Amino acid sequence: MATMRAVVMEKKGPAAEALVLHTDWPVPVRKPNQVLIEAAATCVNAGDWKVRSGFFPIPINMPKILGEDVAGLVAEAPEGSKFKKGDRVFANTGQALKSGDQGGTYGEFVAADEDTLCLMPPGISFLVAAAVPMAGLTAWQALEPAMPLQGKRVLVHGGAGGVGGFAIQIAKAQGAHVTTTCSTRNVEYVTKELGADEAIDYTAGPWEAAPAAAGARFDAIVDTVGGPYQAASLRLLAPGGWFSTLGATGPDVKRVSVLGILGLMAGAAWRTLLGKLGLGPKFKFVMLECQAARGLEQLAELMAQGKLKVHLDRVFSLEEMVAAHEYAELGHVRGKVGITIKKL
Ligand SMILES: NC(=O)c1ccc[n+]([C@@H]2O[C@H](COP(=O)([O-])OP(=O)(O)OC[C@H]3O[C@@H](n4cnc5c(N)ncnc54)[C@H](OP(=O)(O)O)[C@@H]3O)[C@@H](O)[C@H]2O)c1
Repeated sequence: MATMRAVVMEKKGPAAEALVLHTDWPVPVRKPNQVLIEAAATCVNAGDWKVRSGFFPIPINMPKILGEDVAGLVAEAPEGSKFKKGDRVFANTGQALKSGDQGGTYGEFVAADEDTLCLMPPGISFLVAAAVPMAGLTAWQALEPAMPLQGKRVLVHGGAGGVGGFAIQIAKAQGAHVTTTCSTRNVEYVTKELGADEAIDYTAGPWEAAPAAAGARFDAIVDTVGGPYQAASLRLLAPGGWFSTLGATGPDVKRVSVLGILGLMAGAAWRTLLGKLGLGPKFKFVMLECQAARGLEQLAELMAQGKLKVHLDRVFSLEEMVAAHEYAELGHVRGKVGITIKKL
């Protein structure tokens, strides 16, 4: 049996107790529609530490390999596949929550559905590519209903984070005027590095005060923060504008209950329905679709044109996954946390 290095979640709880590095974990067996990828890099997304810590009260089959983003080389592809051995690819597998140790990306090999894969743009490193799929696809799909964004006013909450940072850059690439919320230390980062037109420092007072006083109205709002941000944002939506939520529960929430999740989903479903019936603002709850055609191919093009950059806040090795989770869990990652798996 072929084996690999992999970080495996053996139980829920603090990273140091839950995540264990194995050096002889079985290489995943790809299904007929899947490509086996030899992984060079992955990244830590907020969902990873939320699943591991028990923040989300969802049942998980353990042992479990976490992670959904990967960049690496095609090791094996199905017959007739558009990918061939040795291709440089990146993907969001979309499978991390689905089944035991299959589909996770914290290991040297990953089995991913072929339709999730995208060829990496030329000149991009594995580490940079691996940081894009989940956060980038989410940002794309959050903005998508309001596209094309040329000349529109867009508000992105949490612009210094993974999803927020990509949302700013996608909106700017399409010619929108972008306002974003962040803390004081990130004002320069979101405006100078990511290109936002305006940054609102949420630590200086209620973030909505300035746009409300100026009578600002937004054609698209991407809410990566949640909680009280939602109601205040909806009041700033322009007629016909789109509000997209990622289902985040607000900055101060440390854990959600099953009832809390059900309430969140029911509230979102209700608002979506009202929006569709024209009885409320247009509302989208982003449930990530991981097929490359749902945004990753478009993001690859933006990367090739130099219009989408990745800021790697910190980079850890696979062996340092515990430290990577502990850092991400603090909730103030600037850009992304990258993980190197092996040099390819
Ligand atoms: N629905 C979906 O399919 C989906 C997909 C991906 C992610 N998500 C969820 O979306 C959320 C964002 O994901 P992410 O990957 O972007 O997370 P992230 O990278 O960990 O976000 C961290 C960022 O949030 C910012 N932030 C924290 N508190 C804030 C506040 N009160 N106001 C404005 N910004 C604030 C921080 O900026 P400062 O340091 O400046 O505070 C930091 O840069 C998470 O809750 C994640 O679970 C959902």
